[in-house]
Amino acid sequence: MQKGKTQVDSSFYQDLEEASLSAFWKVIAPLQKGGSPRRGRIWRWDQVHPMLERAGKLVGPDQGAERRVLIFAGAESSATTTPTLTASVQMVLPGETAPSHRHTISAIRFVLSAKGAFTEVEGERIPMEPGDLIVTPAWSWHGHGNESREPAVWLDGLDAPLVRALKVAFFEPDSEEHQKQEIPDSGRHTATGSVRALGAHSSQAAFPVVYPWSEVYPELQHQAAGAGDPYDGVIVEYVHPATGGPTLPTLGCYLQLLRPGEKTRTHRHTGSVIYHVVRGSGYSTLEGERIDWQKRDTFALPSWVWHAHSNSGSEEAILFSFTEAPALRTLGLYRQEEKSD
Ligand SMILES: [Fe+2]
Ligand SMILES: [Fe+2]
Repeated sequence: MQKGKTQVDSSFYQDLEEASLSAFWKVIAPLQKGGSPRRGRIWRWDQVHPMLERAGKLVGPDQGAERRVLIFAGAESSATTTPTLTASVQMVLPGETAPSHRHTISAIRFVLSAKGAFTEVEGERIPMEPGDLIVTPAWSWHGHGNESREPAVWLDGLDAPLVRALKVAFFEPDSEEHQKQEIPDSGRHTATGSVRALGAHSSQAAFPVVYPWSEVYPELQHQAAGAGDPYDGVIVEYVHPATGGPTLPTLGCYLQLLRPGEKTRTHRHTGSVIYHVVRGSGYSTLEGERIDWQKRDTFALPSWVWHAHSNSGSEEAILFSFTEAPALRTLGLYRQEEKSD
């Protein structure tokens, strides 16, 4: 054979296709680029909230929407926010209930407004207060209700696209038989979790956990007396009370504070991140593009995108965030890089 480039007969590729084979050298190049979208996205509360209010008038548990949820739709699919995470906003009106079910998809809920609403996890009723984080681990029964006179609104975070990609998404609605069953004590009682400065991780145990704002925020403020993290400002991690590890095996949750005028350094890492602005205003730079944000906006950072955050306001800015990074760490796929200025 002649050295250098050889001419491959096009019939060779046709014959490969017929044999259900594909040529590695033809398909591999685009896959090596990572395949993640490079642009961030933002959903502004002044657009989201009116749509949620309209949904409140049009649909509900008795009108074809068992759960009144608006998904922050990403570039790839209207059902996902990033290729690995789904973020959405949910509203339960006074007197409504979202019936119980369970699934292998894990969920976290960050409460935006509620007074007398609850989430029930594994038969335990957890009251929802603004700023609380409530964790529904994989395969735990959960439902919601609102016995107050005000709508309850919260941010949902799920590992749904990741679980679906692994082909392990199972779902079970609650049934009368299950309700009647004498349920043996699962030992999965709700625990109160706490936060800590960033640190090492360990293995995981599965039971419902609530992280009250009244305990998390003072710890964040306490940390604000220190130097903070060069890439995230003052940041605490919601740690699992049994293991001291991440919030869930697949999802890590964080609360961070940027002091007035604070500007972080730029880095990138594997794992997408969904940010929700709890208070204040500022901007983030994602792959060179500036995204301005204010209270109650939600924005998505794709995996392996350069990013930095700035507080451009005169008061503290607080961001809640969640990421699939714990799953990546377990699989040995977590990687980060700092930008040299
Ligand atoms: Fe659910
Ligand atoms: Fe980061």
